[in-house]
Amino acid sequence: MIIHHPPFTIHHFTSLGSTNDQLKAMTGAPEFTCVVADEQTAGRGRRARAWHSSPGDGLYLSVLLLPRTDSPSKIPLISLLAAIAVAETMIERGVANVDIKWPNDVLVNDRKVSGILAEAVSEGPESLRLVLGVGVNLNHQSFPPELSETAASLAIETGERVAVEEFRDQLLDKIARWYEHWRRDESMLIVNRWQRLSTYARDKQVAVTLDDEKIIGVTDGVTETGALRLVVDSGEVKTILAGEVTRLRKTAD
Ligand code: BTN
Repeated sequence: MIIHHPPFTIHHFTSLGSTNDQLKAMTGAPEFTCVVADEQTAGRGRRARAWHSSPGDGLYLSVLLLPRTDSPSKIPLISLLAAIAVAETMIERGVANVDIKWPNDVLVNDRKVSGILAEAVSEGPESLRLVLGVGVNLNHQSFPPELSETAASLAIETGERVAVEEFRDQLLDKIARWYEHWRRDESMLIVNRWQRLSTYARDKQVAVTLDDEKIIGVTDGVTETGALRLVVDSGEVKTILAGEVTRLRKTAD
């Protein structure tokens, strides 16, 4: 089924392996093509993890963007803006204690409710096709044991069921709005909004796991290209482009 939600054209499927994979296979699809599925049988997360995608419980969405820019370094801001869009959608729906963990995990009451997997289809800024995959746990009542400590759904956290299509359309409107800011080179608008929405932006004691090392430090904001600034013990500021952030202890925020 095809649904028009300007500027997006949504291709809806009952079941798919992964909406990201489906959209990647749609070669030649125009910008703002979306793929959404009621369930994924091989939903993928970052770092080769699986994304739990039970039928009807979540929003499993991929959006095709064709970002054109003279400064490829600002491409990572797109996944930050997607997290902003998810967080704002939740807040607009009355959800409390929404947070963003760098770069783009959306948490409610410190549990992960949404994740984003941005994948480039072709190389080079001129021809970049970016598949922005967004998973949001909406109506799950439980999770597999290995996720139950860290994951949650809006239904678990708020006690209310969410109409998946309604959430999808609200989210798409926000993605369109923030992507427009990105296209207009309004990077600091994105960075500042992200920092206001995230308790991880500043003064948070975290460990950052990189491919082969772990760095401990205190967060000190996000750069204009979306990298995380971390003050380590020696006082030196490290700029983190990619890594897994873990909070070390609860702060008063
Ligand atoms: C993460 O690890 O936090 C990212 C999770 C991304 C999941 C979404 S669901 C829709 C899209 N299709 C996929 O296979 N993954 C993304």
